Amino acid sequence: MAAQEKKASSAASTRQATLAVDGKTVTFPVYDGVEGPSVFDISKLYAETGLFTFDSGFMSTASCESKITFIDGDAGILRYRGYDIDMLAEKSDFLEVSYLLLNGDLPNVAQKKEFDRTITLHTMIHEQLHFLYRGFPRASHPMAVMAGAAASLAAFYHDSLDVNDVAQRELSAFRLIAKMPTLAAMAYKYSVGQPFIYPQNDMGFAENFLNMMFATPCEKYTVNPVLARAMDKILILHADHEQNASTSTVRMAGSSGANPFACMSAGIASLWGPAHGGANEAVINMLREIGDVKHIPEFITKVKDKNSNVRLMGFGHRVYKNYDPRAKVLRSTLEEVLAELGKIDEPLLKIAIELERIALSDEYFVSRKLYPNVDFYSGIIYRAMGIPSKMFTVLFAVARTAGWIAQWKEMMDDPKNKIARPRQLFTGSQPRPFVPVEKR
Ligand code: ACO
Repeated sequence: MAAQEKKASSAASTRQATLAVDGKTVTFPVYDGVEGPSVFDISKLYAETGLFTFDSGFMSTASCESKITFIDGDAGILRYRGYDIDMLAEKSDFLEVSYLLLNGDLPNVAQKKEFDRTITLHTMIHEQLHFLYRGFPRASHPMAVMAGAAASLAAFYHDSLDVNDVAQRELSAFRLIAKMPTLAAMAYKYSVGQPFIYPQNDMGFAENFLNMMFATPCEKYTVNPVLARAMDKILILHADHEQNASTSTVRMAGSSGANPFACMSAGIASLWGPAHGGANEAVINMLREIGDVKHIPEFITKVKDKNSNVRLMGFGHRVYKNYDPRAKVLRSTLEEVLAELGKIDEPLLKIAIELERIALSDEYFVSRKLYPNVDFYSGIIYRAMGIPSKMFTVLFAVARTAGWIAQWKEMMDDPKNKIARPRQLFTGSQPRPFVPVEKR
């Protein structure tokens, strides 16, 4: 018997779960992870009982086994490969974190130098891709451009499309981490009608990105190091987040053997939604709509009204029922950025701080454990940096590419990987005869 057929998980089974249904008792192995809730493996449930489980929204379902990221939402903990997120944000840089996510350990000096150099050498994109951009209307949402551009990389880089070849998988990972900032900055430059700015190999990752965003060929542009460091921190904080909607989408697309560029495009599509990566853009829209601190009480009343469909954007999280640890780091980063830019009196910031104060003390939010999430602050920082709100989710995609590709690689490296094919509870029509259109 092949190793992968022996058991569904590489974790140890210590206990059994027993299910009694229709007079039959069935047992399932329980696997304990290193941390976090244990799982019981129900992959044989259908064969033994003829039943499926039903868990819309994956409220109680682990979709895979992973060694990359750990979250304890009740305690407000996020770790990449065992390292606390605030430690990484403080002491590491985005490329080092990308190496960590991909390889499992932090690099030594030589490995870091080589990785940084490799990524740097892949930042340029095929010149022909410029024509793809020119086909889009200038008013396109940059996420639409990014979804198309990411998928189109598969049309250019044929030498890294064989998903069964470990070296090609790695090459695709390098290309994606390196090229996403270039594609993102091009989406912005195209939208404002400015020339594309080529990547600069002597700049750091975040610095190069800001340069591609804001430099023009007409005059010398120097990236502010405080902003470059803030951007690098934001990238670290967004790099991975366990099996969220977009990461699960990437894994699901990849489970069929689709190439990694196509999978990233699927991830971008999922990230675009306002309940996920689109929330930071929604936060700024919400702050603008409120307009003034004096309108906050009226807005909070609407938020609490179930019939209004209005939510306090940037608050609440499916997993964190405590302060989002990334939001904590970003709150102090926001202060650093605003102090550097002399924008400490930014009116939207005043509204944000007041909303935060109310939400942390109001019974409605406290009882539902609705704390600020990462998106609450990232949008305000981006805005202070001069990044337009349509680009916010694009920046999330640039950062999350590291996590998406690490998760995709982990899945592809796993011999137990099989196509993800959920089942359903069918509640549609009974069988019925076809009636020709003229007789309906
Ligand atoms: N404002 C007001 N009420 C809220 C909010 C909010 N932001 N979030 C949740 N609630 C309320 C719900 O109305 C519900 O109340 P009820 O129990 O009286 O019916 C309760 O809190 C639980 O909410 P759910 O929707 O069941 O929580 P879920 O885990 O499904 O949703 C989500 C999580 C989608 C993030 C939600 O909190 C939300 O919409 N937040 C605003 C959007 C946002 O900031 N998204 C970013 C997420 S982080 C990220 O993607 C990086």
